[in-house]
Amino acid sequence: MGKKLIIGNWKMNLTIHEASLYIHKLDKLIVSYSNVEIVVAPSFLALPALSMQVDHSKFKLAAQDFYWRDEGAFTGEVSAHQLRGLVKYALVGHSERRHIFGESGRVIRHKVQAALRNDLIPVLCVGETATERADGETIGALQDQIIEGLANVTSDEAAKVVIAYEPAWAIGAGKTPSPRQINQAINGIRNQVAHLFGDKTARDIRVLYGASVTKDNAASFLDISGVDGLLVGGDSLNAHAFSEIVNKAQEL
Ligand code: PGA
Repeated sequence: MGKKLIIGNWKMNLTIHEASLYIHKLDKLIVSYSNVEIVVAPSFLALPALSMQVDHSKFKLAAQDFYWRDEGAFTGEVSAHQLRGLVKYALVGHSERRHIFGESGRVIRHKVQAALRNDLIPVLCVGETATERADGETIGALQDQIIEGLANVTSDEAAKVVIAYEPAWAIGAGKTPSPRQINQAINGIRNQVAHLFGDKTARDIRVLYGASVTKDNAASFLDISGVDGLLVGGDSLNAHAFSEIVNKAQEL
């Protein structure tokens, strides 16, 4: 089994200075780096400074978002092409992008392709809304998002993609699905990947759980069959809490 992948999504938090102090602190709190790949996703602003600061054998960087065109007249945007060499991973289609900023399946598909074309590993975020879950449409909603996000991707490319299962209703809400519900969702995701790209890709593709992960519940998610790591929001802003999550992943 590969290393557990633990990603901290800082969202629109921490200044450049705070980001630098945070990493310094985190490095002291983490016991060992051998079985875990640790990734932080700061704001675009902090990326260049952190890239100079971090030991890249310990920490990888991720972008929280980017625009899918490589360059041009797109005021305010940052492209995957500009992030090339600066980050290893890039989140795509995070629930907040979909629901606050109205990102469509078409845009998300373009972003997955832009990441791959620029040698970034896309972390495609998928998740059902509260209504979809209540209506028994969870698996269908996840599969639709996989089909939309991974259309026009080859199976070699698909094997590199990371998928994060993040139920929209649980993000930042202090609520989580049961282990059984997470297992079912992840099986639904892998079945769809198998359908599109074959069984081997479905086995190889890394699937993370995210939404209200804390230092206290992290180990219970990592125990669920099919979970290859975690995408952590709120608790990743506290170096102590995030280091505990990493240290737990390390022990498993
Ligand atoms: P949360 O956020 O851990 O604060 O629920 C998760 C995410 O948005 O990736």
